This record gives sequence, structure tokens and C-alpha cells, in this order.
Amino acid sequence: MNLATKTANTNTPLHSLIAERWSPRSFDAGHELTDRQVTALLEAARWAPSASNTQPWRFAVARRGSAGHAAVLDALSPGNRTWAHAASALIVVAAEAFGPDGAARPWGAYDTGQAVAHLSVQAQHEGLAVHQMGGFDRDRITGLLAAPDVTPLVVVAVGRRDDPARLDEPFAGRETAARHRLPVEALLLALNPAPLAAVA
Ligand SMILES: Cc1cc2nc3c(=O)[nH]c(=O)nc-3n(C[C@H](O)[C@H](O)[C@H](O)COP(=O)(O)O)c2cc1C
Repeated sequence: MNLATKTANTNTPLHSLIAERWSPRSFDAGHELTDRQVTALLEAARWAPSASNTQPWRFAVARRGSAGHAAVLDALSPGNRTWAHAASALIVVAAEAFGPDGAARPWGAYDTGQAVAHLSVQAQHEGLAVHQMGGFDRDRITGLLAAPDVTPLVVVAVGRRDDPARLDEPFAGRETAARHRLPVEALLLALNPAPLAAVA
């Protein structure tokens, strides 16, 4: 089997769990997650930091072959559906926008993204791959969740990578295409402390 390697081209060496992570679309349709792996993914997410430790993230885990998996798959955008069916599990990730006291959670989505980042790194450590998807029907996914007050943010495909050649185009080509990022300089903002100093 020919598994694509897409290690990030970094300005200084990074931990391999970060540098070697990427989002594949070719998943092994025969692979199944162990219960321990599912636990490890959720534990990694659970131990992410969050604003005031509010932990707004919520997860619905649907393993391939389950009725839930079929329903989540059906709610994905057509392009995502063509490859995500082979993933070992589809995890709906949602955030609580309000706390139990009704207080808004302005960092709910931020915190939940951070939890998924933790989950992704743990998946890489487990020899698994993750592909996040924002392309899904929000109303249908919301309707599947047995919790009315959560906002679905992504569906995460988790599984074992497979040969890119198992995909049709255009997806096969994307498996081996180079990964790109903005240069660090483009991410840096200038600080202008003078006006603040004047106020103080
Ligand atoms: C919030 C979010 C939504 C995404 N939605 C989709 C999607 O619907 N379909 C898809 O194929 N990839 C999706 N992606 C994957 C990104 O395209 C991918 O992470 C990005 O191109 C960088 O590639 P890399 O993860 O391989 O480094 C999404 C990623 C994130 C974080």
C-alpha cells in the first residue's frame, strides 16, 4: 500500500505529531476503532483548556455500521459523503452556546476547536487520522443530536489512512498534493501601544 506522507515544511523542527498530521480522505473501510482508542480521543478532548473551565464541547460518536453513522453520513455535503463513508467513525462536535445558568459562552466555539485540536494530536499518536468537515446540513445534524441547546461545529472523520489510489478524482490527487500555509510573517500583527499609553 502506498500511503502519502505530507510532513509540514517548517522553519524549525516541530514535534512529529504536529508536523506529520494532515487531513486525508482515503480511509481504510475495513478498519475499526478499539474502545480504548475512542476513549483516548475523548480524553484528549476532555483535557483541553477552556474559558473558566466551562468545557462547552460535546461529542456524538458514530461508528461505521451503526444507524447513527448512516444518518450523519447522509447529512454531509455530497462531496464529503463520497469519501467520509469509509472512516471508522464520524464524530459530531458541538458546543454549548450558553451555560446552565443561561450565561453566554462567548468562547464556546474557540474552546471546542481547541478540544478537537487535542483530539487530532492524540489520534496522530494512535496511528489514526482525522479529517474535520464543516460541510454538512446544520439543521439535519442538529436534529440528530439529542440535545437541543448545542451548536454543531464540525463532523470529524476518524480512521486509518488508506492508499490514495482508492479515491476517484479530484480527491485522489488532493491526497498527494503539497500542503501550503501562509508564511509566519503574514500572520504577525503590529502592536501600536501609543494610543493606549496616552489613555493611561
Ligand atoms: C472547521 C473546518 C472545516 C473543514 N471542512 C472541510 C470539509 O467540509 N471538507 C473537507 O474536505 N475538508 C474540510 N476541512 C479540512 C481542511 O480543508 C484542511 O484542514 C486544510 O486544507 C489543511 O489541510 P491539512 O489539515 O491536511 O493540513 C475542514 C477543516 C476545518 C478545521
